[in-house]
Amino acid sequence: MPSAIRVEGLAKAYGPVRAVDGISFDVPEGHVFAFLGPNGAGKTTTVEILEGLRNRSAGSVEVLGLDPWKDGAKLHQRIGVIPQEFRFFEKIHPREAITYYSRLFDTPADPIAILKRVYLEEKADAKFDTLSGGQKQKLGLALSLVNDPKVLFLDEPTTGLDPQARRGIWEVIRSFKADGRTVFLTTHYLEEASLLADDVAIIHHGKIIARGPPETIVAAHGRPDRLRFEAGLEVARYLSSRIPFAVTAENHHVEVEIREKEDAIKVLAALEESHLPWERFSVVRDTLEDVFVRLVGRMDDGVIKSEAA
Ligand SMILES: Nc1ncnc2c1ncn2[C@@H]1O[C@H](COP(=O)(O)OP(=O)(O)OP(=O)(O)O)[C@@H](O)[C@H]1O
Ligand SMILES: [Mg+2]
Repeated sequence: MPSAIRVEGLAKAYGPVRAVDGISFDVPEGHVFAFLGPNGAGKTTTVEILEGLRNRSAGSVEVLGLDPWKDGAKLHQRIGVIPQEFRFFEKIHPREAITYYSRLFDTPADPIAILKRVYLEEKADAKFDTLSGGQKQKLGLALSLVNDPKVLFLDEPTTGLDPQARRGIWEVIRSFKADGRTVFLTTHYLEEASLLADDVAIIHHGKIIARGPPETIVAAHGRPDRLRFEAGLEVARYLSSRIPFAVTAENHHVEVEIREKEDAIKVLAALEESHLPWERFSVVRDTLEDVFVRLVGRMDDGVIKSEAA
């Protein structure tokens, strides 16, 4: 599949601060790519370089085959952008805002059809400064769709939205992908990244520390699955003496690491033999958020260096 976005050795320094420190990745056309990282990691800097809003210090960048800094005018016709903090003229209505954008892009647009796509049609004629935070975000998304873009850059599009509104934005992202278009998304909601993204990259201190499909990252960096049940310390001690798996006990819960399904059967057999009380059996699996927190924490502790998986 051809690449919609190519980044090779990208770096950006603000004086002594290396905000982006030599990152490389590709986003194939039609993919949703989630760019994750703690506050100050370098996400917005990268997004704004890809959008042609900031120049880079080093490296090469291509979006739809264009250099965003040199070919900005051409690129802006073909991409959609929601900045991290979307603001607009206070007294303008969503309907007018869309008409205004469609004139800017010299492309016809049906304001109500676009507002419907982001579930904002009932606010078509409300002033911008009377919209809630989530509604303002939705207007940002609506405006990014006006020029029928091939690539959409969304910098934290769902921050501060209620769960329903967030799902509304997910639907727009999914329908966008279903049209074969590309989405570059930053978010602090790791569940959102797991649900939507074909690929994720985790950036920290300007370097990529993990990259790949969400499930591959979890498989590579997560802990083994655990059997978990409510039980006392005596159960943990009994299991430790009977089975060769790591057993931990905390807050009236016991967890046993398992690597194969047969391991689960051995644990249950040992529990049965123990005649000790236990209940509420479940299987616990690391999420992308668990892996994110561990990787970022381990890098801060100097346990791991950056890597491009
Ligand atoms: N215009 C600027 N001048 C100087 N330093 C900057 C500038 N913009 C960003 N930085 C610094 O670059 C680093 C990366 O910032 P960036 O905005 O890219 O982070 P981010 O990953 O988007 O964070 P957040 O999750 O908080 O949005 C930070 O240390 C920030 O202070
Ligand atoms: Mg940011």
